[in-house]
Amino acid sequence: MRVEPDRFRSVLRHVPTSVTIVAGLAPEGPRGLSVGSFVPVSLEPALVGFFVARTSTSWPEIEASGGFCVSVLGEDQAWLSAHFAVPSPDKFDGVAWHAARSGRPVIDGAVAWVDCQIAAVHPAGDHLLVLGTVNDLGVGTGRPPLLHHRGGYRRAHDLDSAAEDAADGGGGPRPAEPDVASREPVSDARPPAGQQRPPGGQPP
Ligand SMILES: Cc1cc2nc3c(=O)[nH]c(=O)nc-3n(C[C@H](O)[C@H](O)[C@H](O)COP(=O)(O)O)c2cc1C
Repeated sequence: MRVEPDRFRSVLRHVPTSVTIVAGLAPEGPRGLSVGSFVPVSLEPALVGFFVARTSTSWPEIEASGGFCVSVLGEDQAWLSAHFAVPSPDKFDGVAWHAARSGRPVIDGAVAWVDCQIAAVHPAGDHLLVLGTVNDLGVGTGRPPLLHHRGGYRRAHDLDSAAEDAADGGGGPRPAEPDVASREPVSDARPPAGQQRPPGGQPP
């Protein structure tokens, strides 16, 4: 049975994901993109992975640099996800980051980060499966992570009400959903200058 892309999307949008920025240091400067497919893969050796679309404009430059650093976004960082999901060579302009020991960018205020050498890149349909050998990693703020679920940004405590909304389990048409399921919306609007978490990103 061939699965239509719309059916694929309408079912798999019910799988919540983390939201990360995968970044690398190209000769021209830092490059990065939003990635929801990040996953820990192996303990021995320590491997992580993610899937990147073949159409990504940042990935070829990151790949050529030999490694990548994954920053796991916190629930107050939805604007960074939206920002890094638009192709542009200037995405790091105005974004606070610091260098891992490798020099690769860690987004300030990230919940956690994982710095990797590229171990393998495998074809996976219209995506590539990228595996990375973990060289270094750490907890940043350790705060609750940002989630992506049913087409919107969520906090972990929002998922219960999102699941209640979706309880019919059918694949039929449903009314337009708000971007966020419950009480306190997670906005992807960029905060005013000066309200970004300071370098180091420690909770107050
Ligand atoms: C929440 C979220 C998750 C995403 N996950 C992925 C992903 O796992 N793989 C991917 O290739 N693109 C993913 N994208 C889309 C890319 O970020 C987007 O296509 C971006 O424009 C790519 O930038 P680039 O062309 O600079 O590489 C995601 C976007 C969002 C908002």
